[in-house]
Amino acid sequence: MTTTAESHSLLTTPEVGGLGHSRKRVEDARFVEGRGNYVDDIVLPGMLHMAIHRSPLAHARIVSIDTSEAEAVEGVIAVVTGELLAGYNLAWMPTMSGDTQAVLATDKVRFQGQEIAAVIATDRYVAQDAADKIIVEYEELEPIVTPQRSLEPDAPLIRDDKEGQTSNECYTWESGDKDATDAAFAKADKVVSLDTFYPRSHPAPLETCGIVADVNSATGQATLYMTSQAPHAHRTVFALVAGLPEQNIRIVSPDIGGGFGNKVPVYPGYVVATAASLVIGKPVKWVETRTENLISTGFGRDYHMHGELAVTNEGKILGLRVDMLSDQGAFFSDAQPTKFKAGLFHIVTGSYDYPVAHVTTRGAYTNKAPGGVAYRCSFRVTEASYMIERLVQNAAYELGIDPAEFRMKNFIEKDQFPYLSPTGFVYDSGDYEGAMKLALDMVGYDEIQKEKEQARAEGRLVGVGIASFTEVVGAGHGDDYDILGLRMFDSAELRVHPTGKAILKLGVRSQGQGHETTFAQIVAEELGIPASDIKVVEGDTDNTPYGLGTYASRSTPVAGAATAVIARKLRDKAKKIAAHLLEASEDDLEWEVGKFSVKGDPESSVTIQDIAFAAYTNVPESIEAGLEGVHYYDPPNMTYPFGTYVVVVDIDPGTGQWKVRRMVAVDDCGVRINPMIVEGQIHGGLTEGYAMSSMQHISFDEQGNCIGSNFLDYLIPTAWETPRFELGATVTPSPHHPIGAKGVGESATVGSPAAFVNAVIDALWPLGVRNIDMPVSADRVWAAMEEAKS
Ligand code: CDP
Repeated sequence: MTTTAESHSLLTTPEVGGLGHSRKRVEDARFVEGRGNYVDDIVLPGMLHMAIHRSPLAHARIVSIDTSEAEAVEGVIAVVTGELLAGYNLAWMPTMSGDTQAVLATDKVRFQGQEIAAVIATDRYVAQDAADKIIVEYEELEPIVTPQRSLEPDAPLIRDDKEGQTSNECYTWESGDKDATDAAFAKADKVVSLDTFYPRSHPAPLETCGIVADVNSATGQATLYMTSQAPHAHRTVFALVAGLPEQNIRIVSPDIGGGFGNKVPVYPGYVVATAASLVIGKPVKWVETRTENLISTGFGRDYHMHGELAVTNEGKILGLRVDMLSDQGAFFSDAQPTKFKAGLFHIVTGSYDYPVAHVTTRGAYTNKAPGGVAYRCSFRVTEASYMIERLVQNAAYELGIDPAEFRMKNFIEKDQFPYLSPTGFVYDSGDYEGAMKLALDMVGYDEIQKEKEQARAEGRLVGVGIASFTEVVGAGHGDDYDILGLRMFDSAELRVHPTGKAILKLGVRSQGQGHETTFAQIVAEELGIPASDIKVVEGDTDNTPYGLGTYASRSTPVAGAATAVIARKLRDKAKKIAAHLLEASEDDLEWEVGKFSVKGDPESSVTIQDIAFAAYTNVPESIEAGLEGVHYYDPPNMTYPFGTYVVVVDIDPGTGQWKVRRMVAVDDCGVRINPMIVEGQIHGGLTEGYAMSSMQHISFDEQGNCIGSNFLDYLIPTAWETPRFELGATVTPSPHHPIGAKGVGESATVGSPAAFVNAVIDALWPLGVRNIDMPVSADRVWAAMEEAKS
């Protein structure tokens, strides 16, 4: 099996630091020294503070709002209500999915924690104390906390604000061929089915969401320092919502302490702080608390899933049927392309070759916080991957075939790529068998199967779970993928200065992924300029070219490609300058990383640094001065990373407690720019997958009270609980990506939950346990064992 170093021969020295070098993260110096610059670090002269009054109820009509006591508090400058905002046409705003969302509630509250009013004061604590003094009179309504109840005909209408909305259905989409799928199921020897639930979870970044809004009434300039994963798209949304001229809006995303999809939507707090700054004429800061973050900003998952697989007795898959029901909360605010609304359509058929599938997915409004963000996954891909990998394992058991062998029998083979999936998407490349073989070898699959039998004889429970996932990342192409009509391209601007040092400006925005390190490596590879001589700038709309932002692992597939292309364009120009300097024809020159030389005369050469200097000091009239340019890259297709994860667990039969003994993760994200950073991304994703499989979920009581509003109730694994991960790699370059790279940031979160759960089910299947929903806590395991006994 190949590793990065073997498959991608290193073209550069460690000093230059191009592709394949595990260059240390340059951004970490400021982070470990506590010198990062986050939104909350920003202090502007005369700055005011904002706090939000939120609804304690999940569903209620607002009878009255009394702000008088709050207004009387010393230090309070203004109290903002929805009614006030309505005067500026700002009481409602569009969501990233084309729905509407209340900025501050005027008619009803629709989830616990919804924003009702905001206090602007000279001090953060004064603002909060005054916000607590706002008195709201409510008329309580039935809270709806499940999508099943929501879709019942007698359920009260949650979105009675929307003209023409007569039920709580938010959307219904379908994909695939129903008739052909029905015909395949009619021919099947067996139909295997699974009902499962992927619970609501929260990205919970280390830094919560916030803004410092600075609108200068004299100049009309609005500078918004925001926790934004997509500053350019947000600027356009602000221009459209607030009616501010776009050239006067500057969004600055300073250092961001983790996003994971949470910082993609536009939140009411951003809009209110901006409106307040505009009206008051002073900068306004709003930084939410941890509880506010957990109860009101974009959640992930909350998907109820039914899947069926039609199979032959010999173990061939004939077709797939899937029906999903999504709990969208009170406002539909997923951030996803307007077409192919559910990204799950792309890869719900998994890594397997069969001709037909039919998928339906419905969304329902409920009295819960809105979200459905791409929490380390592109548009519901995590749910889809979980579904198919659980289903495939159950099918193997029901046919009496080993789950690894069953997968091997059905994998799309290496030479079948590009592969047209039954839902109509083209997988760019893959070697599923290669990744699985490596993972099985690493874990010692055959020996563990033997040990499992022995353990059972001794009354011990050992399980092995596999997930052979396929991912889809790197949205667009722009014809098919857009957010509110904005094509999902991305951009890179590269300027090489006279001294040979460079600055690279990107439309994406890192939130911890290490872009400052890795994107410099792409330029280093293409131009031979040492990565340490290249500064990467992101997150300032006045200072970077337009882009759709960083989420769903799109930075490398899209902005990474833009970077490689612009560097190549500059190399083409550099060649012309080199020809001039060497008094040779361009055709007679050859490129070796970092320099052009005359073919057959290596002594006659000029370095990229010589050329850069000449670009500003010595160019012929036929060539424009300077060595800089910008490229907008609209990818021809998504990229499809993949991998196989194998988990071995030991379960205590007395308590149901399970422990991960081994976790082997083989990932293939094409050419790895920086193997160390890739491994870090995978470690993070595996930890998140483990968290979701075992402990991390947000639930609600029947009144719609959010359980999980703090880190005592919302469990996030620490280093103590997190298992040790053993990583392996295969390399299957993406054929259309200029450097053959696929994204990786979310793969492990997408791929791993099924491996953990499958391992537990593997140990318990012989006892009669068929399913346990996540989080697979010890008490659920124990209860499932008890139920199987009876
Ligand atoms: O969009 P986001 O940055 O979250 O995800 P990504 O494109 O998957 O990249 C995550 C990090 O891994 C970035 O620093 C990438 O440059 C790096 N990476 C890499 O070194 N090699 C790859 N093949 C893919 C990503």
